[in-house]
Amino acid sequence: MKPTWSANQYVTFEDERTRPVRDLLAAVPPIAAQQVIDIGCGPGNSTEVLAARYPGAAVYGIDSSQDMIAAALARGMAGASFVVEDIEHWLQAGESAAGGPRFDVILANAVLQWVRKHERVLPALAGRLAPGGALTVQVPNNLNEPAHRLMREIASDGPWASKLAPAVATRTSVGEPNWYHELLSGAGYRTDVWQTTYYHPLPGGVSAVVEWFKGSGLRPFLDKLSADEQGDYLARYQEALTRHFAVLPDGSVLLPFPRLFIVAVHR
Ligand SMILES: C[S@@+](CC[C@H](N)C(=O)[O-])C[C@H]1O[C@@H](n2cnc3c(N)ncnc32)[C@H](O)[C@@H]1O
Repeated sequence: MKPTWSANQYVTFEDERTRPVRDLLAAVPPIAAQQVIDIGCGPGNSTEVLAARYPGAAVYGIDSSQDMIAAALARGMAGASFVVEDIEHWLQAGESAAGGPRFDVILANAVLQWVRKHERVLPALAGRLAPGGALTVQVPNNLNEPAHRLMREIASDGPWASKLAPAVATRTSVGEPNWYHELLSGAGYRTDVWQTTYYHPLPGGVSAVVEWFKGSGLRPFLDKLSADEQGDYLARYQEALTRHFAVLPDGSVLLPFPRLFIVAVHR
């Protein structure tokens, strides 16, 4: 089941969501890039960072959501091309076009958690690199954090349980860092894997945590519910969160957010 996306909701926390892109690209060795692509480019926030890092390169962005691509186009980034396309289709099209385009940098920031079969998809993405190019990936590794555990628990324990059963399994589990290292270094890439937990101060308190996940992890759940059910579900979610998050004296909460990073360089 594919969730629907709202660019407006997503960009509410744009700076926090874009920081991993800056940290990821900062770890890429120097490359005189001519062609770069942002897979799952969303509203173009990650593409802007990619374009700024490689100012001489032709920049492409693909995303399966029309709403996201419309928002990316609305940024009016000179020299960037955006199309609505699913990563699977993009990979298949590349495989069937022998000698098809190769990219110096492929960025996939905060998208592969929605894509199955990492054991196939990561090497397939790396297979689209030009010699010396870099595959750069960041995936949220937060399925066991309270904010995610609670959205699943409330989904499984309410009048909506059967309706939400498929949503509970929408996200792909992220593997261990060693597994990604072995997958890509075993395929011949120079690989750098690390994990970081960000602690995002959210000024709105617990309701800001709800707003954050309305733009990402909650999408598959909310998509399945009527407006009334959404209200009930979110009220229960917010109430459960208040038991897990300490509100700081200034009214904010700290949202812990573990993320896994991978850079794989074509030798
Ligand atoms: C969390 S947003 C990340 C946006 C942006 N890359 C960033 O760094 O903030 C995830 C994006 O992945 C897109 N997406 C999810 N599954 C996809 C797929 N199978 N193919 C292409 N895009 C996908 C969604 O539409 C959404 O825009």
